[in-house]
Amino acid sequence: MTNETETETPEVPEAPATPSTPTDAWRAALSSRKTEVANPGAVPAAAVSSLETDVSRRTFIQASFWGGLGLTLLGSVGTLLDFLYPRNVRGFGGPVPAGNVKDFAKGSDPKQFSEGQFWMANLDPTESRPGGSGGADGLIALWRKCPHLGCTVPWISGFDYEGDKGWYRCPCHGSTYTKAGVRVFGPAPRSMDTMKIEIDSAGNITVQTGTITPGGPDNPTRVTKI
Ligand code: FES
Repeated sequence: MTNETETETPEVPEAPATPSTPTDAWRAALSSRKTEVANPGAVPAAAVSSLETDVSRRTFIQASFWGGLGLTLLGSVGTLLDFLYPRNVRGFGGPVPAGNVKDFAKGSDPKQFSEGQFWMANLDPTESRPGGSGGADGLIALWRKCPHLGCTVPWISGFDYEGDKGWYRCPCHGSTYTKAGVRVFGPAPRSMDTMKIEIDSAGNITVQTGTITPGGPDNPTRVTKI
């Protein structure tokens, strides 16, 4: 009697296929990790906007350049104007002190103020000689610059012109002026120029040497009464 006992052999699951070589193993690993692109035909966004980015960058650089240049020029012009703007002008071109009214006796010889380039006189209306006041009564400030070619005109008390002594007489070409600065002789095109006079309540005199009026036969009418 045969006691044949059949035993079933349990099925052994198939082992996964293993790469045959190390190189294949790496290929498989890399293949499994590859990122799939949803739409391989699509152009990357960075590539689409690169032209616009270049244009805007160029515009920005140009604007920065011109803006910087403009600011630099503006600063230079401002500095130049600030340098040229007259402030606290002293001497000729600005206010120049000329003493006090008590310093000027009526009818006396003119006094020179070199700092302001002018002569100052207190004209006496009774000084009726040809080189006198012309009937004026008060202070007059005369720019010493000859209206002809700019020589400095002196007052010469001893200079005699047509029998009368005491005149302004230009040493360059002989232009001659009365005590009121009125031209009576010479090539000068006009009388001596006058300057603005200011007198405060204490009698102190200031001559505005930057405020000059071209001379004329009406010089005697321009005096400042004291
Ligand atoms: S500059 Fe005075 S007369 Fe010529």
